[in-house]
Amino acid sequence: MSKLSSGSRLSPEPWLVRETGWQHGRQNHFATILALGNGTIGARSILEEAPQAATPGTFLAGVYDAAGSIVDDIVNLPNFFELRLFVDSQRLSPDGLRVAAHERILDMRRGVLSRRTVFLGGLQGRYELRTERFVSRAMPCIAVLRAWLTALEGDADLLVTGDFGLGAYNTEGDWEGHKRHYGIDEVATGPRSWMLARTPESGIRVGYAWTTSLDGRPVTEPVSVRLRKGRTVCVTRIVSAASSVDIVPPADLRRTCERGLAAALRRGVPRLLAGHERAWERLWDVSDVRIPGAPKLEHAARFSIYHLLACGTAWGTPAGIAAKSLSGEGYRGHSFWDTEIYTLPFYSFSQPAMARQLVRYRLDRLETAKRSAANRGFRGALFPWESGRTGVDVTPYFPLADRSLYVFDTGKYQHHITADVAYGLMTYLTVTGDDSVMRTGGLELLAETARFWASRVVFSKRSGRYEIKGAMGPDEYHPDVDNSVYTNFLARWNLEYAARMLSDFSTRDAVKGELLFARLRLTGAELAEWRYVASRIEKTNPGRAGIIEQFDGYFKRRDVPITKRNEHGMPAWPKGVKEDDAFKTQLNKQADVVLTMLMFPDRFTAEQKRKNFEYYDRRTLHVSTLSACMTALAGLEFGIKEYALRYFTPSLFTDLNDVQGTTDKGIHTASCGGNWQCLIRGFGGVAIRDGQLSISPRVPRAWKSLRYSLRWHGALLRVTARPGSVTVRNEGKAATEAILFGKPATLKPARALRVNAPGA
Ligand code: BGC
Repeated sequence: MSKLSSGSRLSPEPWLVRETGWQHGRQNHFATILALGNGTIGARSILEEAPQAATPGTFLAGVYDAAGSIVDDIVNLPNFFELRLFVDSQRLSPDGLRVAAHERILDMRRGVLSRRTVFLGGLQGRYELRTERFVSRAMPCIAVLRAWLTALEGDADLLVTGDFGLGAYNTEGDWEGHKRHYGIDEVATGPRSWMLARTPESGIRVGYAWTTSLDGRPVTEPVSVRLRKGRTVCVTRIVSAASSVDIVPPADLRRTCERGLAAALRRGVPRLLAGHERAWERLWDVSDVRIPGAPKLEHAARFSIYHLLACGTAWGTPAGIAAKSLSGEGYRGHSFWDTEIYTLPFYSFSQPAMARQLVRYRLDRLETAKRSAANRGFRGALFPWESGRTGVDVTPYFPLADRSLYVFDTGKYQHHITADVAYGLMTYLTVTGDDSVMRTGGLELLAETARFWASRVVFSKRSGRYEIKGAMGPDEYHPDVDNSVYTNFLARWNLEYAARMLSDFSTRDAVKGELLFARLRLTGAELAEWRYVASRIEKTNPGRAGIIEQFDGYFKRRDVPITKRNEHGMPAWPKGVKEDDAFKTQLNKQADVVLTMLMFPDRFTAEQKRKNFEYYDRRTLHVSTLSACMTALAGLEFGIKEYALRYFTPSLFTDLNDVQGTTDKGIHTASCGGNWQCLIRGFGGVAIRDGQLSISPRVPRAWKSLRYSLRWHGALLRVTARPGSVTVRNEGKAATEAILFGKPATLKPARALRVNAPGA
């Protein structure tokens, strides 16, 4: 048993993330990287005593409110992991006491955070505080904290209160000040305490029921005990937390929380912990990635996967996954295209039930997207660039000194999100084969998104082609441009895919097809129009060679070479250009054309891929964490390995090493998803070709092997990729077809098949 852990086992080092020594200035970095979550509850890991400079964050998925802020914020709720312990009349906290030793360990395998701190001060010198906490993976509403306190040098007086602060604030959005997004309706303290809160603008109810006990006795009011030297006391808190997003009718909320608490108390902490550990074990069984020859990379890969798992759930009302997951207030808890393009491949291949929730989140907001398109004078559905509770665009704006409002260009122009949402649906469908989503809104979503593009394009008499004007590709340094390559390619794909899926559906089942077409007021002529428009969209035919212009007029912008790199090996900002002036130059914030080539690999020749990759790499600053992972992936797929390795490592360590300096606001979830894609698609060689699974790994010699599992159409495939060979074991019940190193293969149930790379 480790010195740190009081009640339970620690997994070996490859599963641990450590904070060693108390670093006041870095506490918010650690609060993010050690965050706990089960997809329903997310908790930043600030210290239990909630030091003054810490940014707490306790979130319930889907609980948003806009009171006092310009748009939805994910609501920062009372921090139930806060403990109020006083020793010899002093609060046990680094704010008042000196810290002689401090260590925290997140055990990613078990989703458990442990701590050991030795404080100096007071009358009798040294006190040791050990804690262990988790947010249950087995019971989505339950959180558990245990703390053990020992007076190391002499007797001490300990005062424990059973409560925690009920006042939490949102702080994102400098110009808005601190916002309290809920009011407390009722509180009751006793052996089993509870509180009910309500968000003022969105009207969501939140309930907590909890107990705090000292050595097994409930703490109903402040309790003083004489702590004998060397003796340890244990404080336990069990919390049951839920919101009316999941619990309907809201009047049942208090009862549901109390029942959850009662069930948790009946089980007791050891069984709660064991159930929680088993649930994590089941997730890791499918989601873990092993790289025996590169332990540091394996550890960082696991870190990305841990945070993807910590914000995913198959339970409850579908909520989006925020750009910073449930680990911080950054981006106010909004969901972006990050979900569909960056994280959905992981969930679809690894945890399809979680993926389904994300698909449903968008399907449930289709009507809002239709209204949004109509409000802007378009047909069909326009999905919001930033999405929160309702699906209305919640991209922020802020007041300028002259009292006018500055609206972020991103929300005005990044219409590609609409096609990204459709693309995500395709990813889910292709990987899982679960076509029930198509019958319950998926086909409608495809039709309405295609309608949007058919009305969004304008016909140019000059070129005889359709153009998309006033758009913005993923590269956010260039707003309001015409014919962004990324946008145009996605729009074309959206139109073609919708036409194909809808016509296939009506061919397969004429009666149902007719009913669907009638309900959507869709005709064969409209499908033909989509196909016609798609085939004539500007800039979607890259020609034979040459550099593809990112948007009309890009080449005329000032060409500023990137010459220097920072300590992470990432490009340094070129001297003489202000960020606000980047739009006048060819400098890119993030990969744009390169990403297009990754998403449509068959539309470009190998020569085009290489030339364009090199051209745009010299102009891309990778200021967004969405960029390095995709560039590394492109490097691998396009056979430009030196670039792949240059970007893969900084991307993998984005949050562990705080490469962008923004980790204190939350985990960069898209980068976690991008890192997984780099590993599985890039090195693992997984691709989907004409709807079939293809695996052609590219494993560096030094790695020895890369091991991962995939869920494909219900089957569970265990893959061991080595330099020069791949072995796939099918643990499903039925045979599955796949293409291994280009050769069609049948993967029989309970059998392993090994195929060598050509020439190996
Ligand atoms: C990126 C966007 C991304 C957003 C949220 C921005 O910095 O440019 O592409 O969607 O962050 O992660």
